Amino acid sequence: MAETTDWHDWHSPYADDASALSRRLRIVQCHIDDWLDQRSESTLRVVSVCAGQGHDLIGVLAGRSDADRVQAELIEKDPRNAAAARKRAAAAGLGGITVRCADAGDFAAYRTAVPADLVLLAGVLGNISDQHARATITSLPRLCAPGATVIWTRTRRPPDLTPAVRRWFAGVDFTEQAFDAPPDELFSVGVHLFRGRPDSPPRSGRIFTFAR
Ligand SMILES: C[S@@+](CC[C@H](N)C(=O)[O-])C[C@H]1O[C@@H](n2cnc3c(N)ncnc32)[C@H](O)[C@@H]1O
Repeated sequence: MAETTDWHDWHSPYADDASALSRRLRIVQCHIDDWLDQRSESTLRVVSVCAGQGHDLIGVLAGRSDADRVQAELIEKDPRNAAAARKRAAAAGLGGITVRCADAGDFAAYRTAVPADLVLLAGVLGNISDQHARATITSLPRLCAPGATVIWTRTRRPPDLTPAVRRWFAGVDFTEQAFDAPPDELFSVGVHLFRGRPDSPPRSGRIFTFAR
């Protein structure tokens, strides 16, 4: 029988500042902070694909005086994680965050969330097949506004898919802004800027399915 993951428990290493997951989180948060510093618009749209408990975006916005510029949709399938994200956003006074308990692997979940100026794709590409990882990346022009940024993560556990991931981004008009791959860790964090023409998303249709 296929192994299943408890996606609520998966978040527990965030409680330990020294964990690899916390280290990855700090890198993702640093890129979100930089992105906000670089964008001067009064309104910015963010979508988080498989948002979990929203540690990354909520953690950054909680510390920023310009958090009200951000209108975000966090798409998360596990109702326990969605509830935790809502609670965290409310505690931080973030009125611009909507947590949607939905299947982020279907275009139908993005109806009100896109086109987005920032797409968070953390903890997704390592939990789907290589074929679905490629399909997800090639679908991003349907989720992105012109000039959007995508922040993504992927393990480099052999066989390391990140060289292919980076090629796939280039193939759909993204340019790489950063690729963080600490030598003493297996995770990596990439930042890609969309230089292409957005495509409108279909009303529904599969993008990916989680493998576990
Ligand atoms: C590896 S965790 C990443 C969570 C978060 N992005 C982070 O980096 O902290 C994957 C998350 O995806 C959620 N998930 C799994 N399948 C999903 C789907 N089809 N749609 C939305 N969320 C899904 C899980 O419940 C889990 O919270």
